[in-house]
Amino acid sequence: MPRFATMENATQYELHLAGRMARLGTETAFEVLNKARALERQGKDIVHLEIGEPDFDTPLNVVEAAIDALHKGWTHYGPSAGLPELRQAVAEYVSRTRGVPVTSDEVVIVPGGKPIIFFSVLSLVDVGDEVIYPNPGFPIYESMINYVGGRAVPIQLREERDFGLDLDEFASLINDKTRLIILNSPQNPTGGVLSKQAIHDIADAIGDRNVMILSDEIYSRLIFEGEHFSIMSIPGFKERTILLDGFSKTYAMTGWRMGYGVMRPDLAAHMTRLMTNSNSCTASFTQIAGVEALRGDQSSVDHMRDEFKRRRDAFVAGLNQVKGFSCRMPKGAFYAFPNITKTGWPSKKLANALLEEAGVACLSGTAFGDYGEGFLRFSVANSLENLIKALDRINQWTAKNL
Ligand SMILES: Cc1ncc(COP(=O)(O)O)c(C=O)c1O
Repeated sequence: MPRFATMENATQYELHLAGRMARLGTETAFEVLNKARALERQGKDIVHLEIGEPDFDTPLNVVEAAIDALHKGWTHYGPSAGLPELRQAVAEYVSRTRGVPVTSDEVVIVPGGKPIIFFSVLSLVDVGDEVIYPNPGFPIYESMINYVGGRAVPIQLREERDFGLDLDEFASLINDKTRLIILNSPQNPTGGVLSKQAIHDIADAIGDRNVMILSDEIYSRLIFEGEHFSIMSIPGFKERTILLDGFSKTYAMTGWRMGYGVMRPDLAAHMTRLMTNSNSCTASFTQIAGVEALRGDQSSVDHMRDEFKRRRDAFVAGLNQVKGFSCRMPKGAFYAFPNITKTGWPSKKLANALLEEAGVACLSGTAFGDYGEGFLRFSVANSLENLIKALDRINQWTAKNL
């Protein structure tokens, strides 16, 4: 496994890893970030468009709520499922935004959105069970399915459908072994958004099968066109849906590590047990700040979304001028996912060349699965000035090399 650091010759004791570790994947964004930082240490100037986090500060009212909570002694263990105050605030927020009644016993607070992926797969998928997941998609889905010995069944997101899926293809993948279906809208890495109609069509294809759906809605507040719609809002689907949402993207709180899942109470009890076994609880003072994030002034969310939209418009227009690139207009999240097949370069090689020779860090579409070949992912979570600098550098590079 050459992509992991080794400690060869550092000790006489061979490391005996559990077999399952060979099946665990990773998130390439962090590796590219490390490589870019190493180049910076050598004196190279890099424009960072690889990492998926808002470049804004956490809103001040949220920061102040956390400081106040620290002063007031919210520094101890809390309940594994989350503080009642935050579970209640999440229940109210989700009831309001998804239009279905949710109670606090259906909410589990966890350190980030990621643990909901981890716990959903751990608690629902046995060896040999099938899980349908979007490809290209967030790499942790496939990693976790493989880790637990499930069968990863990719559903290809298609550029010609604005990165939606082909319904017949989707329906053909569902069978008696399907235990979990993962949906993600707005989507990472494509910026695609499933319309209300598309989600109804997906629900129709699932029908009344006893299959759970993990609906990853971490970018639900970052939509530029249209409205967010959740499959949990469709009658008959709430009890089969695990809603994943959180604070990382919406409130620029990636480093705080706080997210949540909303699910039927019996499953919530099992996820809570996984929390007790792994983290004990999410940090208490951050949860108090989470209540302020959900209930306080929301203008920073609107400001951030408007700013991402402005950058998206400029950057995607610029990408469409680059030789060999063509880019659909993403409808949500903060990524651009251009098709680069006309450059004649494979995605990974092109991403490497752009980093090393042009000083622009981006991700290969293949970091998001096999169907990501032919694409690159750029995050627009950087200043307009830096995005324009990146476009200039890419244009100079293509002029020289294509
Ligand atoms: C689709 C998707 N789901 C979940 C996550 C995880 O979010 P968090 O940082 O809150 O764990 C991310 C983060 O990049 C994401 O893109």
